[in-house]
Amino acid sequence: MDTEKHPLIRRRRSSESVRRRDRRVSFRHFHYPWKTAAALIIILGTFLCYQLAILKPHGDSFDSGRTGYRTYDGEKISWKLCGTVAERDLECSRIDVPMDQFNASNNGPHGNMSFSLPLVRLRGKNATQSVLLNPGGPGGSGSEFIHRRGAQLSQIVGEGFHLLTFDPRGVNESIPVASCYPTPEARQQLSSVRSKKIPDDSGELYAWTSGFVQSCAKSLGEHGKYINTPQTAADMNSILDAIGQPDMYYWGFSYGTLLGQTYATLFPERSKRVIIDGVANQYDWYDGLLDKEELTDTDRVFSGFVDECMKAGPDKCALASLANSKEELHSKLLTSIDKLRDDPIGVYVNNTLFGVLDYWAVWYEGVFPALYRPANWYTLANNLASLLRGNATDAFLAYNRPESDFNTTGKDTQFVITLNDGASGPKHWPKQGRTDLLDIIVPFFDNSSSFAGTSYDFYFAKQAWPIEKTHGYVPRRGVQTAHPLLILTTTYDPVCPLVSAKSAYASFEDSRIVEVLGYGHCSVAVPSVCLAKHVRNFFYEGLVPDAAHTRCEVDGEPYFVKPAVAADGKVCATVLFDDPEEQEIHLAQLELARDSWLRPW
Ligand SMILES: *[C@@H]1O[C@H](CO)[C@@H](O)[C@H](O)[C@H]1NC(C)=O
Ligand SMILES: *[C@@H]1O[C@H](CO)[C@@H](O)[C@H](O)[C@H]1NC(C)=O
Ligand SMILES: *[C@@H]1O[C@H](CO)[C@@H](O)[C@H](O)[C@H]1NC(C)=O
Ligand SMILES: *[C@@H]1O[C@H](CO)[C@@H](O)[C@H](O)[C@H]1NC(C)=O
Ligand SMILES: *[C@@H]1O[C@H](CO)[C@@H](O)[C@H](O)[C@H]1NC(C)=O
Ligand SMILES: *[C@@H]1O[C@H](CO)[C@@H](O)[C@H](O)[C@H]1NC(C)=O
Ligand SMILES: *[C@@H]1O[C@H](CO)[C@@H](O)[C@H](O)[C@H]1NC(C)=O
Ligand SMILES: *[C@@H]1O[C@H](CO)[C@@H](O)[C@H](O)[C@H]1NC(C)=O
Repeated sequence: MDTEKHPLIRRRRSSESVRRRDRRVSFRHFHYPWKTAAALIIILGTFLCYQLAILKPHGDSFDSGRTGYRTYDGEKISWKLCGTVAERDLECSRIDVPMDQFNASNNGPHGNMSFSLPLVRLRGKNATQSVLLNPGGPGGSGSEFIHRRGAQLSQIVGEGFHLLTFDPRGVNESIPVASCYPTPEARQQLSSVRSKKIPDDSGELYAWTSGFVQSCAKSLGEHGKYINTPQTAADMNSILDAIGQPDMYYWGFSYGTLLGQTYATLFPERSKRVIIDGVANQYDWYDGLLDKEELTDTDRVFSGFVDECMKAGPDKCALASLANSKEELHSKLLTSIDKLRDDPIGVYVNNTLFGVLDYWAVWYEGVFPALYRPANWYTLANNLASLLRGNATDAFLAYNRPESDFNTTGKDTQFVITLNDGASGPKHWPKQGRTDLLDIIVPFFDNSSSFAGTSYDFYFAKQAWPIEKTHGYVPRRGVQTAHPLLILTTTYDPVCPLVSAKSAYASFEDSRIVEVLGYGHCSVAVPSVCLAKHVRNFFYEGLVPDAAHTRCEVDGEPYFVKPAVAADGKVCATVLFDDPEEQEIHLAQLELARDSWLRPW
């Protein structure tokens, strides 16, 4: 392949602009012999693709010589080798944590009621300490996360740390799990309810919700009321104690920032290296009736999609030829998609595949998730351009996915943790009737982002929630942590806006904000080696920028790039760096940027 066909590739010297802006950011922790990679770049000249094959987890295939349990000095648990990721060992273990971390007298008559949590550790090659990760959700599985994205994250963090992740209590393979149904069969039979159109569906949704929340309470049993974020924060100390590590090193994404803020408030003395990335407002989360801040910038990200599309032009963005200005394109899109509310489109592919493309599918299953990841904008534009030209097939195939929630506990877990954390149920909700609820949420949705409707069913459950709130966590300002927090954000995040990062900044003394000047959810939505340097310098040296608020450029052109993936599954660099290790980080970030692990509800 040559550069002609890939005009986005341009040479750039080792982040000079970055150095100029922020001299305290050095790049000292690249202990990797990258000479081979450097040679490769020279041979390839201008084009570099990332070998995906080596990043895929090797499943459960054990190295037969090394299947025994492993123990390490100073640790209280043993580990079993459970695969490799990018040629590094993965180790698995489990720990039991008390059902109630804060009051032992609630742990049953014998004091032994507990949760069992799976742990997975990706070993750094020259590491003694572990960085704990949380992928978000709530309900995201740490073990799933590390299998899928551990390779790229360890590329960014470097070999000096192990990455350690876990399924939080209630999540995925924790025992017990937060499921609102006793069996997958019951879920399949009982979970279907119309909740796409407000207020038309509200009668059915309201009636169904009263049964659903009772089923949650019953299915969760005694454990249910201890599935919340402050308990999980305390579980992270149990994990540190089990591996004999006094200090918390942490990188949490999205919901993981609520976990991080909660941890840092409850255990400031252990908070030595806490990074929160893609920040949610903990005051809204714990005390608010409605999450008013969450969607502050969602419509701005959509406008950014339109804006960047017009800038990219018709060669790169299929929608650009349909309008003469961004204003015209914006209103054309809104008008066409809005029309689907009353006139969904029938799509026939063949006699085993046909159906209806409706407003919900396009707006909430298509556009909204794409806002999280600009790497998906190119494809979104293609699908919407076909739709606007009168062919709904592409959008139907892409967005009309059958209910994928049926067999998984993911959404239950999300509801249970969120509702147990916050102001839920009759004690906290002004009134219990259906119209009383609509009186609150309809004006809120009307006055909020056009994407607010995704949380329609959530508020019905919040009003009716029968499980009592057992935690006493109260977010507060002026928290003095052992070391300043590092707060990461993009400029326009569709679900965790910059203003929430500022709220965290105001809560934690001496914390610092590093903003990547781009669109998307969490810093990993767009590639920025500058950002990676801040992460490394923080973890290794405890360095934070001098300024309270520092900005990092995005590397290359992240918007409306045809996904540059070679036939053999390689992702291709959009910027060439002189430093081979920076090049590797850039490639890892591109890989993260096209990931979709952080999904909306
Ligand atoms: C391993 O880590 C130690 C301590 O962080 C560091 O001094 C040393 O240079 C590292 N070695 C390599 C080969 O990266
Ligand atoms: C601990 O729980 C017991 C039983 O639920 C309760 O009586 C007691 O007040 C609690 N203690 C504290 C300090 O909250
Ligand atoms: C707790 O301990 C009691 C008495 O030793 C035992 O009967 C029970 O099975 C234990 N429960 C759990 C959940 O381990
Ligand atoms: C649950 O964990 C298993 C094992 O790590 C993983 O294969 C699976 O994808 C996870 N499920 C979810 C929904 O995260
Ligand atoms: C979902 O659950 C049903 C009932 O247990 C089962 O028959 C079906 O195979 C499951 N589907 C998937 C994709 O796991
Ligand atoms: C119908 O179309 C889908 C999608 O193109 C394809 O996967 C499926 O095999 C087709 N079914 C038949 C019977 O042709
Ligand atoms: C609509 O788009 C689909 C998929 O791109 C294509 O197969 C089909 O031929 C198109 N239909 C018409 C009428 O152009
Ligand atoms: C609508 O939103 C704005 C800004 O978000 C707020 O100031 C105003 O109070 C809201 N109005 C209503 C009726 O909720």
